[in-house]
Amino acid sequence: MGIFYDEKNRIFKLDTPHTSYLMGVEDDFGYLLHYYYGPRLHGTDVSYLARTGEPPYTPDRNGRDKLSFLDSAPFEYPTGGVGDFRTHCLEVCTAAGHNAVEAGYRRHSIRKGKKSLPGLPATFGGEEDCTALTVTLADDVLGLEIDLEYTVFEDLDAITRSVCVRNTGAKEPVVYLTKVLSACLDMDDRDFELLTLHGSWARERIIQRLPLGKGRQGVFSERGETSHQAQPFLALLSPDATQTGGEVYAMHLVWSGNFEAQAEVDQFDQVRAVMGVGPYHFRWKLAAGESFQAPEVVMVYSRQGLGAMTRTFHDLYRNHLIRGQWKDKRRPVLLNSWEGAYFDFDTEKLLAMARAGAELGMEMLVMDDGWFGDRRDDNRALGDWFVNEKKLPGGLKRLADELNAMGMKFGIWMEPEMVSPDSDLYRAHPDWAIQVPGRRAGLCRNQYVLDLTRREVLEYVWGRIEAILTSANIEYVKWDMNRQLSDMGSFALDSDRQGELYHRYVLAVYELQERLCQRFPHVLLENCSGGGARYDPGMLYYSPQIWCSDDTDAIERLAIQEGTALVYPLGTMGAHVSACPNHTVGRTTPFETRGHVALAGTFGYELDSTRLTEEERAQIPGQIALYHRFNDLVRAGDYYRLASFRENHAFDCWQVTSKDRSAALVTYVQVLAGANRHSRRICLQGLDGSARYRLEGTDRVFGGDTLMYGGLPVEPMAGDHRSKLMILIIEK
Ligand code: GLA
Repeated sequence: MGIFYDEKNRIFKLDTPHTSYLMGVEDDFGYLLHYYYGPRLHGTDVSYLARTGEPPYTPDRNGRDKLSFLDSAPFEYPTGGVGDFRTHCLEVCTAAGHNAVEAGYRRHSIRKGKKSLPGLPATFGGEEDCTALTVTLADDVLGLEIDLEYTVFEDLDAITRSVCVRNTGAKEPVVYLTKVLSACLDMDDRDFELLTLHGSWARERIIQRLPLGKGRQGVFSERGETSHQAQPFLALLSPDATQTGGEVYAMHLVWSGNFEAQAEVDQFDQVRAVMGVGPYHFRWKLAAGESFQAPEVVMVYSRQGLGAMTRTFHDLYRNHLIRGQWKDKRRPVLLNSWEGAYFDFDTEKLLAMARAGAELGMEMLVMDDGWFGDRRDDNRALGDWFVNEKKLPGGLKRLADELNAMGMKFGIWMEPEMVSPDSDLYRAHPDWAIQVPGRRAGLCRNQYVLDLTRREVLEYVWGRIEAILTSANIEYVKWDMNRQLSDMGSFALDSDRQGELYHRYVLAVYELQERLCQRFPHVLLENCSGGGARYDPGMLYYSPQIWCSDDTDAIERLAIQEGTALVYPLGTMGAHVSACPNHTVGRTTPFETRGHVALAGTFGYELDSTRLTEEERAQIPGQIALYHRFNDLVRAGDYYRLASFRENHAFDCWQVTSKDRSAALVTYVQVLAGANRHSRRICLQGLDGSARYRLEGTDRVFGGDTLMYGGLPVEPMAGDHRSKLMILIIEK
């Protein structure tokens, strides 16, 4: 593991346990070319892979046909305006209106440990487990320097990259950056397939896998947040890639705003994958002496299919991205008031719900939307972060104290980034909303977005958060964000900086959440955005869990949680048992199935606990006991996707195995019953092949290898939407 520089051949080699990544400086112009990313190599003699001596370049050193060189050489960080006509990473506009930028190698440094990125979320690591490389490129005509930053981790097949652009002031007093992506990966196409995650409100992160065709394809967001519609993730797969075999090149962006993730197949069947902050309405004024830090991209290569890729992301995010006191802790079993009461609650109602929940083993009441200002419905009062004493006489303190007295913790919902037109805050400060002067800004859920890039707005919002969180014993915050950004205009930014608003907005959200983490380190923060519209690695840096989707139906959740768990650790997925018929889709599923599906995430309840049936009341203590028994395994174990209802239209199955392979929890959901069927054999994964495992609750003992290659028989159940947990414990 580590990073090496072959000085003679000017080649950089980045090694992870099973992969190598090589790039080098080309002789004629000093371009930094990408040579190789794949299974681990011994040597560095790979520069021939860049084909610099082959047609279509002119072999007599490329000068005469510089454009054909630029348009087909594999670049580490391609720039725009000088002849690389493929999608590129860096685009500028000078004061004179020119867009050409061309960068060559200047210097580099290799060191132990990983630098943090100013103002941005990023993976972290110490000198004992990380090695980092900075390669500095420069455009001397513009006086720009570009730092390409790479990190490898001691025990993970992941490489992280980020980019910092500096205006040295040597040539231009101001350069406008119009596109700064964070990573590029140039390779030959190998009939790759492109895997991306798509969705909408209530059906986020559904997996799509399509052949990679010629031209540009990919995903993006221009909504100011990463969005329900797309995830800042892409993977290139060999056509034979499955959960257990085949090649996967994956990229994921640690960012929570507009993004672009593209793969392009060019005229020579080369593929270029790029990822970074979305260039839509992006124009960053970079004055002399200033620098712009672009966010981080995580790259994972796997030769053991998607499953190995998933487990690398899980380990990386669990150990090197998620922070704080709750990182490795079992979370309290919460009872969220939203689907149980919506806006219709007062202290007495909440206490009654809490009492009923506490009796069954629930540990925290989360008071969702509706507790502040005149918030009777979702048409008003966002921004008025003052307790509604009519609903909650005695305020949050009385409620928290009474909850604590019955042994329950207390959590609240907030949506600090927003303002309703019908609010005292908006009436006092209409200019605090993001808007284009003279144009009526579009509403979404009847609300506007606060211009957090203005210091006075950010300080006001922070002041309210701080006042509320210090007013009572609040141990959890659900931070919501229920609309996309549009009508982009800030009263505080000069005209030549309006193109920074999308970006500065995200930085301001990060600043607020960082303050919350520092000032209230004991508070468990759960991010949320109309369900899972801001489920991204950026938010994970601040909150160890994120509300996965407003769709709490157990069957709909199968595909949502499958897509989410493809990259995110199970312990990050907000998942609740809710009432039936389900409020989003009207489906009725067994209470047991709802519990089993929610156990794959954070686990909790979101229903009116005072209106449970006897049967439900009888089941809840058992569900909570399962949570306490298995959550450490679910949070920290290795996840294997065994079958997908999305693909087979009949059943879903996943497994979590402890790191020491002594225990495995298999969750099986029979979505549709079938007539006249015998048992299904499910091949497990990741067990100790030479060990023997007992199927709990039976006297059956299986060899680990038998379970993996012969399979575990699962008997059919009567009825649709049924589920079962199978627990395998190693025999000593
Ligand atoms: C969003 C969230 C829900 C709930 C409501 C409250 O939609 O995703 O869980 O908190 O807001 O308004």
